[in-house]
Amino acid sequence: MKILITGGLGHIGSYIIQNISKIKKIKKVYILDNLSTQRFSSLFNLPKTNKKIIFIQSDLSQKGSLNKLEKVNIVLNLASITDAEGSLKIKKKIYKNNLGIFNNILIYCKKNSAKLIHISSTSVYGEQSGLVDENCKVLRPKSPYAEIKLIEESLLKKNSKQINFVTFRFGTISGISKGMRFHTAVNKFCLNASLGLPLPLWKGMENKPRPYLSLSDAFLVIKFTIEKNFFKNDTFNILSQNLTLKQIVNLFKKYKKNTKIKYQKSKLINQFPYEISNKKFCLEAFRPKFKISNDIKLTLNLFKNLNK
Ligand SMILES: NC(=O)c1ccc[n+]([C@@H]2O[C@H](COP(=O)([O-])OP(=O)(O)OC[C@H]3O[C@@H](n4cnc5c(N)ncnc54)[C@H](O)[C@@H]3O)[C@@H](O)[C@H]2O)c1
Repeated sequence: MKILITGGLGHIGSYIIQNISKIKKIKKVYILDNLSTQRFSSLFNLPKTNKKIIFIQSDLSQKGSLNKLEKVNIVLNLASITDAEGSLKIKKKIYKNNLGIFNNILIYCKKNSAKLIHISSTSVYGEQSGLVDENCKVLRPKSPYAEIKLIEESLLKKNSKQINFVTFRFGTISGISKGMRFHTAVNKFCLNASLGLPLPLWKGMENKPRPYLSLSDAFLVIKFTIEKNFFKNDTFNILSQNLTLKQIVNLFKKYKKNTKIKYQKSKLINQFPYEISNKKFCLEAFRPKFKISNDIKLTLNLFKNLNK
């Protein structure tokens, strides 16, 4: 089986690639990335495996960028500009990039009968009260990034007779990878705490939950999908835990006694609460099991010799 992992040098992709030997069915891996985020380190020390790993540097938002690629069985599309908060300032650019990528992927999958693992985001829910699931009718994306995820989801639904896919709405990722970033809640907090900076919090949001997903669970979801052919032409929420900011801050205080917090105004980060149900995935597949607290502990540990 051959797989194309787009955006493969990023936070999630680099973790998948390091663990690719655990997915037995895969024999050949194409990693495609435009290196716009300079994650060269994701290419260091690729795992020893009997699988062929090929890297292609290419801008996937350009028309025809996949024309020369041989036929693969599965596409895991991770390529996108991913900073939800930052996307408010670069609306045109992110629409052009992320939808450009998605359209090329759609064309490629249709033409080559490739199955698509589409990674959406729980940010499509926006602000909600109470626990919500995939049946939630009123979605309120609060950023261009989240709006685009929703457009992608509806494009897939429109094309569902011509393409075999699964859409996963991932919660905010935590955990360590070679291509990891520090701009989303948990990882940003780890960086700040390690640098002796306060954790930025939005006042009034301390007790509001949001969904988080450990990279370890994200990998198991991808592995399961490939091994069990879980291409349901349907959408699933994927998260390890819903946590409030207060719970997260308490975890930091447990691991780093002198953790400080600072209330601040931000257009997005931590601003919109939503508690998400992952029951549908648990019933049809398995229950994600990793604890965000462990990711926090391990990430803080990366910086253990800093500022001593
Ligand atoms: N990290 C999270 O918290 C999170 C949560 C929910 C959903 N997701 C989704 O998962 C996917 C992967 O996220 P991530 O955290 O690994 O992101 P990331 O930013 O770490 O990686 C994205 C990669 O895409 C590449 N890329 C961007 N534009 C490209 C283009 N035009 N052509 C080729 N490559 C391009 C970048 O260079 C980068 O390496 C994204 O679709 C993201 O929206 C992420």
